[in-house]
Amino acid sequence: MNAQSTRVLAPRQLLAAGKRSAGRAPQRCFSCSTRCRQGQQQTEIPRKDPRDGAGTTHFGFETVAEALKEQKVGAVFSSVASSYDTMNDLMSLGIHRLWKDHFVRNLNPGRNPLTSSSSEQKGWNILDIAGGTGDIAFRMLDHASTINNDAHTKVTVADINPDMLAEGRKRALETPYAPSPRLSFVEANAEKLDMIPDSSIDLYTVAFGIRNFTHKDVALREAYRVLKPGGVFACLEFSKVNNTLFEAVYKRWSFSAIPLIGQVVAGDRDSYQYLVESIERFPSQTGFRDMIKEAGFLVPGKGWEDLTGGIAAIHKGVKPT
Ligand SMILES: C[S@@+](CC[C@H](N)C(=O)[O-])C[C@H]1O[C@@H](n2cnc3c(N)ncnc32)[C@H](O)[C@@H]1O
Repeated sequence: MNAQSTRVLAPRQLLAAGKRSAGRAPQRCFSCSTRCRQGQQQTEIPRKDPRDGAGTTHFGFETVAEALKEQKVGAVFSSVASSYDTMNDLMSLGIHRLWKDHFVRNLNPGRNPLTSSSSEQKGWNILDIAGGTGDIAFRMLDHASTINNDAHTKVTVADINPDMLAEGRKRALETPYAPSPRLSFVEANAEKLDMIPDSSIDLYTVAFGIRNFTHKDVALREAYRVLKPGGVFACLEFSKVNNTLFEAVYKRWSFSAIPLIGQVVAGDRDSYQYLVESIERFPSQTGFRDMIKEAGFLVPGKGWEDLTGGIAAIHKGVKPT
């Protein structure tokens, strides 16, 4: 068996193990997913002592030991790393590219030398968590360079998965940033960023990553720790559709089409099933906004912006000065 096929099989083996051990795993079909959503609590509620490691958590609609979730998520992303664009295009019908453009444009990264005072630090120090293949990082650097004439802003892409980072490094070779100190890649868990000093980051971004974290509240506190006072936390994530009819169509698409296409296109139904279930499990816009507040951030306005009727949302928080 070659390395590629080992990677493709890994998540299936893990999923199968989960199903065997739990005996309560949902059947993987649209109707059962619907039943599951009705019968189970919809979103994750932060545990009192989230890092004690002895509890259970969600892996999509499955309940798994906390210690196992990271491994299972790792297997999913190792499996999809090489077909990552296809995955994103399928999950969002290609719209993720527009959302990412909007996310970055709206954050306006970089310090324009014409409009900032000479005493200010040159460029921004950006941390893109769960940055995977570099989609956000490349856009940040492009924006800082071309819109703000800023050749100093730098981005650190942090991701827990070496296969996703390898794809990102490969893609970086096609950008002007690969050999420059403006772009770096680091393997790290968002919940434990020991290599990033306190109060050192101007902008912390996480796009389509946080719903996969085992302890989202711990990751939010780490974000708070590493940001400078006045620094911004910005998250782009799938969210809750705000129109009942649209929601019904969207859910039918997600739960029936995406796993099927995952199976046909990538030979990996289970990973794609997990991805749609993880979206369903993620807190609502208000629930996630409250988690950001709980981590200590100030939340501007209502706290989020819906994209495409709430299929995705951008949440922001500011570390108080
Ligand atoms: C759907 S991809 C998003 C990649 C990229 N941000 C984008 O928008 O295209 C989710 C990423 O989250 C990463 N991830 C999952 N759990 C993580 C954790 N605890 N810490 C850091 N990265 C994590 C995965 O390895 C994967 O690369």
